[in-house]
Amino acid sequence: MKSDTDDRPVAIITGASGGLCSATARALAARDYRLVLMSRSGCAEIAAETGGVGVAGSVLNDEDVGLAVETAIDRFGRLDAAIFGTGRHSDVLKNYAMPEPPGVTRDSLAYDPDYRREIFDIPWPAWHDDYEMMVVAPMRLARAALPHLLKSGRGAFVAISGIEAGQPRAPFPLGPTRLALQGFIKLLADRYGRNGVRFNAIAPGLMESGANEFHPDWASDIPLGRIGRSAEIGEAIAFLVSDAASYITGQCLTVDGGLNRSLGL
Ligand SMILES: NC(=O)c1ccc[n+]([C@@H]2O[C@H](COP(=O)([O-])OP(=O)(O)OC[C@H]3O[C@@H](n4cnc5c(N)ncnc54)[C@H](OP(=O)(O)O)[C@@H]3O)[C@@H](O)[C@H]2O)c1
Repeated sequence: MKSDTDDRPVAIITGASGGLCSATARALAARDYRLVLMSRSGCAEIAAETGGVGVAGSVLNDEDVGLAVETAIDRFGRLDAAIFGTGRHSDVLKNYAMPEPPGVTRDSLAYDPDYRREIFDIPWPAWHDDYEMMVVAPMRLARAALPHLLKSGRGAFVAISGIEAGQPRAPFPLGPTRLALQGFIKLLADRYGRNGVRFNAIAPGLMESGANEFHPDWASDIPLGRIGRSAEIGEAIAFLVSDAASYITGQCLTVDGGLNRSLGL
């Protein structure tokens, strides 16, 4: 293990080749973080851009997540922040054959009685896969990172959730899985707060990286009048892991341009 004479903070980000987490990598690099960036394809491009270290692996695998943590410790000697942002419900569903769901409608972001997605067309294994990706996988990263976040003295964990946690919507029928994630975030925040580690989630609204799943008119329901930029999530996560958020733990920060009322999370 490298002994650390450099006191710049160190963060792991999973899903860092994707829209929201590559933006998070940029936001943290701009704040002088040293980064370990993980995804199945290895994050080579964003690692080169941000001066980070790319790691190829799956968040569904203990050894791969362990490798990302070991990489941070071997290269930098410490770990101050772990950020989980991987996996979409739509990607989980792509692995299963099922009837094509109806296209989203103008009103189906709220409630459209004519939008009749058959929820039970989704086979049971997909429900389990979604729970693995949205709930177990972030807990896997938290478990692997925890011993080092405890040593940091300013450890912070952030999981990307989604507004479908608190506002179930028929076009995203597996969305309520995310409610369980928030329960675990609260539990971890309670348990480790006195040990100096904060646990939070962030709920992005309709962001540019997911725009292919939205109805073009949905933006007009957003008080800020547009879908969100990936960088706006990156900046919010950079805040949550920073000392500026030192009294914030167990929360889910909604970043959605005002679309939702309280998620009650
Ligand atoms: N975009 C939105 O509007 C929106 C809104 C709310 C919530 N979210 C949530 O925010 C998160 C990130 O969204 P995004 O739009 O940035 O997604 P994205 O652009 O599709 O990126 C997903 C990332 O996850 C990686 N990944 C997928 N499966 C993986 C696995 N098993 N192990 C490790 N890495 C894996 C992908 O890279 P590889 O293919 O290289 O593995 C990629 O880097 C997701 O959980 C999404 O549901 C997004």
